Amino acid sequence: MTTPDTDSLPRHVAIIMDGNGRWAKRRGLPRVMGHRRGVESVKKVVETARKMGIEALTLYAFSTENWRRPATEVAALMELLATFLRREAPNMMANNIRLTAIGQIDRLPDSAGRALREVMAQTAANTGLVLNLALSYGSRDEIIRASRRFAADCVAGRRQPEELDEELFAAYLDTAGLPDPDLVIRTSGEFRLSNFLLWQLSYAELYITDTPWPDFREAEFRAAIADFQGRQRRFGRTGEQV
Ligand code: IPE
Ligand code: IPE
Ligand code: MG
Repeated sequence: MTTPDTDSLPRHVAIIMDGNGRWAKRRGLPRVMGHRRGVESVKKVVETARKMGIEALTLYAFSTENWRRPATEVAALMELLATFLRREAPNMMANNIRLTAIGQIDRLPDSAGRALREVMAQTAANTGLVLNLALSYGSRDEIIRASRRFAADCVAGRRQPEELDEELFAAYLDTAGLPDPDLVIRTSGEFRLSNFLLWQLSYAELYITDTPWPDFREAEFRAAIADFQGRQRRFGRTGEQV
């Protein structure tokens, strides 16, 4: 394993936090206990990313497809989200963390939506780690919403279709202003993207671990970063060119 060095740190790490339910089931516990323990992993990983000097961390917390889960589980997740946001706001302020969100934020229930908007506003001027939460997020939905906004701008005469290039399209996405993730981590061993950042992950390095999210803490995060630092990113060129 290569030794971590700050030069080759990923600027932006994205994580598909998976395996809470299986973690709980294995222990004969209700799924919500897995989610609850998963919140502790969120705190640890955010703290570690901040200490390492990573610029942005995007966490896939709730997908557009997750609305299909039993209403009780959805309600428990939304409750956990609201509690997490309210409890962590002082810590985010103390550590210069800026909270942002991607996804259909207006679909969140009142309490979670309000907490999210409040903490985003409160931390908006912070200049350290960007903690970006994907909430009611689906990549195809994001691309459709971006396309609609661009089309509307064309109809209104603010844009011309010929202007559209990769950079301009990216500016219409929810992730506008963030660099593309360099590394995407998926916990709990599934080899799929589950509608996560399909555009933005074009050249991301993939890291999949069997460790379920509730057990993914500082050591596991550092191991993922060290693995990333041993990769050669060629972006289409030959190994000799890079
Ligand atoms: C991730 O854990 C949390 C969310 C998707 C909200 P899961 O709840 O998907 O856990 P598994 O995949 O059932 O183990
Ligand atoms: C992906 O996990 C979404 C989040 C981590 C929030 P899922 O557990 O919902 O993914 P699938 O449905 O198994 O692919
Ligand atoms: Mg899952």
